[in-house]
Amino acid sequence: MSEETDMTYSEAIQKASSSITRFPLIPVRGVPLMNHIANNWDNIWAFRPDPSDLLIATYPKAGTTWTQEIVDLLLHNGDAEACKRAPTPVRSPFLEIFSPPPIPSGLDLLEKMDPPRVIKTHLPFQLVPTGFWENKCKAIYVARNAKDNLVSYYYFDLMNQTQPEPGPFDGYIHKFMQGELSWGSWYDHVKGYWLEREKKNILYLFYEDMKENPRREVERIMRYLDLSVSDEVISQIVELTSFKNMKENPMANYSCVPSPVFDQSISPFMRKGEVGDWKNHFTPEQSKLFDEDYEKQMKDVDIPFRTLI
Ligand code: PPS
Repeated sequence: MSEETDMTYSEAIQKASSSITRFPLIPVRGVPLMNHIANNWDNIWAFRPDPSDLLIATYPKAGTTWTQEIVDLLLHNGDAEACKRAPTPVRSPFLEIFSPPPIPSGLDLLEKMDPPRVIKTHLPFQLVPTGFWENKCKAIYVARNAKDNLVSYYYFDLMNQTQPEPGPFDGYIHKFMQGELSWGSWYDHVKGYWLEREKKNILYLFYEDMKENPRREVERIMRYLDLSVSDEVISQIVELTSFKNMKENPMANYSCVPSPVFDQSISPFMRKGEVGDWKNHFTPEQSKLFDEDYEKQMKDVDIPFRTLI
């Protein structure tokens, strides 16, 4: 993408600022989605990917941007400059996003790109357009432990002026447990992809594993994508995708989204990037209540989540 296109993307958001508001959620097959997404659902559902396209799927705030950056660098043999050609959402469009004009939708951006494309989604498994599976597209799912995921989402909802107001933290925990946040239930989301991972050849990753041993996980992604890059390039990719480096990278830190949408003075997009930050937010009582509910909601699966590493 040219520099001009980057400008246009940020400018488009700036131009739309008078129509930016905390959009209400409308259920699509029971999953609460931003009204602009729900109103364009038929077009999203009809999307036909190319067999060479790659899907990166996550519940919001589970490590999407990090994985997008790793994949882009792997596809460009660790070339940092090539991966600064445009900001993340232009390099790797967000399938279902629809916002007020003139902000381009994910589908608009995808239409202008030649496959193979790296496509981001937060849709739960059952809402992913079936063409991805019919065409045997590769898909990477990244899951993050519920408590850290919730905390990260809470700060994001404070700063993202298009998301419903998060309200007080205690009430937010209840909304999370009840699946009332945008993109619905975390529990159903992580389970949906987990149960399909073998049949659909989905690479299921954990944020905690990526933090613990980023090199191992970058290599895992490389093998899944049938790529082969040198050990030196792997080291370079691990370095370029460290939290610190991505936080400082204007093409990865979402500074491309101006403050009427992402008010990073409230909370930066690259906030902390840690495992276990939930301990600084949950009281012992909230943690107990959350754990009891978690047991119930997750009793039918055994997904090896870790809340500390
Ligand atoms: S989004 O809006 O759903 O696409 O957000 P997403 O990228 O999935 O998640 C944002 C959280 O991931 C953290 N992050 C990272 N952590 C470690 N290393 C790297 N390189 C990295 N890049 C992004 C980001 O800081 C958010 O987590 P919190 O806990 O809020 O810091």
